[in-house]
Amino acid sequence: MFNLEGQAAVVTGGASGIGLATAHALADVGAAVVIADLNEEAGAAAAEDLKAQGAEALFVRTDVAEAPDVEALIEAVTERFGSLEILMHFAGIGQEILALETTLEDWNRIISVNLTGSFLMMQAAGVVMVEAGYGRIVSMSSVAGLRGGTGRAAYGASKGGVAALTRVLATEWAQSGVTVNTLAPGPVETPLVKEMHDQETRRAYLRSLPANRYGAPEEVAAAAVYLALPQSGYINGVTLPVDGGFAASGVLKRGPGPGGPEGPGTTAS
Ligand SMILES: NC(=O)c1ccc[n+]([C@@H]2O[C@H](COP(=O)([O-])OP(=O)(O)OC[C@H]3O[C@@H](n4cnc5c(N)ncnc54)[C@H](O)[C@@H]3O)[C@@H](O)[C@H]2O)c1
Repeated sequence: MFNLEGQAAVVTGGASGIGLATAHALADVGAAVVIADLNEEAGAAAAEDLKAQGAEALFVRTDVAEAPDVEALIEAVTERFGSLEILMHFAGIGQEILALETTLEDWNRIISVNLTGSFLMMQAAGVVMVEAGYGRIVSMSSVAGLRGGTGRAAYGASKGGVAALTRVLATEWAQSGVTVNTLAPGPVETPLVKEMHDQETRRAYLRSLPANRYGAPEEVAAAAVYLALPQSGYINGVTLPVDGGFAASGVLKRGPGPGGPEGPGTTAS
């Protein structure tokens, strides 16, 4: 069932973190992978790594917030592979800024990459997929798009917007064989999180995380690949938390034993 041979997949944000892990996971099950990222050096290196492992891979420098870049990307992919079956749209930026300190410039920067970029990428891929009558799109929301959290006015709004946009596209394209789902990860150890989470944020997260640890990029990649399978065609418009139980939980009392102050897992930070 886990076989994507003969399928072309675009992974935006594929040069780092969750996107990079997903590019590898897709290649592992046979997909041809196009890494689309702003970071030329890391993106080109990631594509070379994939090729060295025997995968078909390509890097296309792309700013997802720029319509001409997005159009050029989709053109490059269809020219090279003749089709586009999968879009993993994971490129994104984040910053912790309290609402009262968020400038219009901060707001516009985050909304333009995370939300406008999602619209541009999904619309451009959608054109090809709807026409072909098949496609799997996975976008990137966040727990910050589902729940309130300090310092996340622009980031949370952008990610809530991605979830809403995903539901609309899923509804509009359902009869064309195209599914559109989104992931809502909790905290995952990536370069973005190293920048965004100070020690206080880490402690606050761990207090509320049933898993009592941050996730690994590969744990998000696994969910992404699952949603990209042809057999996942009846899952549509879903926001899938990949968050160690964060969205499901309420009162969380850590007693002694596993997960408790003296138990295993509590040293993760
Ligand atoms: N790491 C987490 O805890 C977490 C949690 C929830 C959601 N997310 C989301 O997952 C996605 C990936 O995050 P990550 O943690 O792997 O971050 P990351 O910083 O490791 O990777 C993000 C990648 O996106 C690229 N990128 C940034 N702006 C771009 C643009 N305008 N055009 C093209 N590429 C661009 C960067 O160059 C980078 O390679 C983001 O959308 C992020 O908001 C992350």
